[in-house]
Amino acid sequence: MVLQILRKLQLSRNVVTDSDVEVLAESLNMPRTKIRALIDFYSFLHDAPRGRYDIYFSDSITDHMLGSRESARVLCDELGLEPGVPNADGLATVDFTSCTGLCERGPAVLVNGIAIDRVDADRAREMAALIKAMVPLEEWPLEWFVINDAIRRKGPLLEMTVRRGSAIERAIEIGSDGVIADLEAAGLRGCGGAGFPTHRKWDICRSAGNPNDRYVICNADEGEPGTFKDRALLNCEGCNVIEGMTVCGITIGAQKGYIYLRHEYEFLRERLEKRLRRRRQSGLLGRNIAGHHGIHFDIEIIMGAGSYVCGEESALIESLEGKRGIPRIRPPFPVTHGYRNRPTVVNNVETFAYAAGIVSQGPGFVAHDGNEPGWKLLSISGDCASPGIYEIPLGMTINEVLEMCGASDVQAIQVGGPGGELISTGEGSRVLSFDDLNTGGSFIIFDRSRDMLDVAMNFTHFFAHESCGFCTPCRVGTKLMVHMGDKISDGHGARLDIEQMQRLNRLMTQASHCGLGQRAAVPILTTYEKFPEAFNRRMEDIEYKPAFDVEAAIERSRQIVAEEAQAK
Ligand SMILES: Cc1cc2nc3c(=O)[nH]c(=O)nc-3n(C[C@H](O)[C@H](O)[C@H](O)COP(=O)(O)O)c2cc1C
Ligand code: SF4
Repeated sequence: MVLQILRKLQLSRNVVTDSDVEVLAESLNMPRTKIRALIDFYSFLHDAPRGRYDIYFSDSITDHMLGSRESARVLCDELGLEPGVPNADGLATVDFTSCTGLCERGPAVLVNGIAIDRVDADRAREMAALIKAMVPLEEWPLEWFVINDAIRRKGPLLEMTVRRGSAIERAIEIGSDGVIADLEAAGLRGCGGAGFPTHRKWDICRSAGNPNDRYVICNADEGEPGTFKDRALLNCEGCNVIEGMTVCGITIGAQKGYIYLRHEYEFLRERLEKRLRRRRQSGLLGRNIAGHHGIHFDIEIIMGAGSYVCGEESALIESLEGKRGIPRIRPPFPVTHGYRNRPTVVNNVETFAYAAGIVSQGPGFVAHDGNEPGWKLLSISGDCASPGIYEIPLGMTINEVLEMCGASDVQAIQVGGPGGELISTGEGSRVLSFDDLNTGGSFIIFDRSRDMLDVAMNFTHFFAHESCGFCTPCRVGTKLMVHMGDKISDGHGARLDIEQMQRLNRLMTQASHCGLGQRAAVPILTTYEKFPEAFNRRMEDIEYKPAFDVEAAIERSRQIVAEEAQAK
């Protein structure tokens, strides 16, 4: 629980002091260096004091488009401070953080860990006045803290009105073979991005290790810029998510489940805790579930502390174990060697919610008239009339989605977050599906007023900031991409920078340890491919001469990764 303790210390005192580290090291019998490494790794832990009002503006591209930079400038000016530096009396810090998951309702901020949306320049001035008067956060206008979910289109999941516990009862009735058969017949695939068949994951896990010594983890880290559907699901359909986790526990023979909730979603925690309590009281969690002797399962919420890579399932497990969120070498996979080295199912929030619907109502729950089986929640943000959550049948085209959310004068769409695919309007007939445009849920629209190089650079900075630093191609490569991209943005770049980036991309794709490093160079290069004019107008024409032997560098990087893995 060391990470949870550090997080509490940070939130209550705005710093983790040297003496905190000493006390923790003594009482937990842990090396001090390990505790300091945690503070260094997680974005929301600090060993230097922050302001008593510790404010972070979301630095996501969608927040930029809604004016976050201007609002942050207003707040800094009003408080007389510079970003990242607390004022002399320690009153406040104004800083930036990666996406806070309020993309459809930005500019968004976190104040002492609590989210506030729509912080335009006026609201920034009002906040500054409250801070200068030292008004406690509890006395700030209540409506600022109400985060509504803009649910625009409902499908089977968001319309589901099943009785609480009905999926659990049916799971017990049909047994684990029946549950797995239902999930297979429905064709449910993971909604977190990779699309792995859910029935296979559960099936492998239930046969691994020892009965009742397995775990269920709900991945509620949702750090992908442009994704906020898990936030909405946990808020309005939290019961179905918990029901799905419980069904999973019963099916695979697990007695314990965890919801790994990102730090930025602290505002959802109390409501979720309440739901867990209510379900315990009604016998749907805890010992002898629904009166069935010997079936035990309970769930605990564990908070993240600020790290995008912790959404990767093995990094998440490391974090859950109180370590830095560095992705593990795989195989072995979490289904056989997961949390505490025990068989573990890690599924996305949405996957558990669909699983509850399928088990409760049968595989027909996700049927529809189109060619592709299944539904998907989309988080639509950016330039459109109605940003928000849309539950769509898989197989919908890009053009249909754009029409549905009232987008016009569209220049480009980023599907699947920064590491996903950039689509131009000429590709409007492509479909959202596991076989064409696969997305964990992020769908960001850019109209023709947007500078696509700025967009690409926002994503490139994001990856450099979030690289966990474990492997050299990603740690160094993301910094080099930022350097070369910024050079082009500032008008000092040349075609040779693009060629260097293309070579670097090959190296990063082939030699990085996890998906972050493998995709980090993609946004800027795809943008160059599809929108070259955004670059050409800022570049000089200089012939490229390779500075190093790329093939040798790839080989050497592979060796380094293998050596680092072995050393670990
Ligand atoms: C860098 C990185 C970040 C990820 N972030 C998330 C996340 O925030 N939420 C999520 O469900 N999956 C995320 N994933 C995918 C998970 O590793 C994993 O595939 C997923 O949680 C499995 O659940 P599913 O089968 O239900 O999709 C991420 C993967 C990578 C490589
Ligand atoms: S690719 Fe990047 S994020 Fe992934 S393990 Fe390597 S350094 Fe960490």
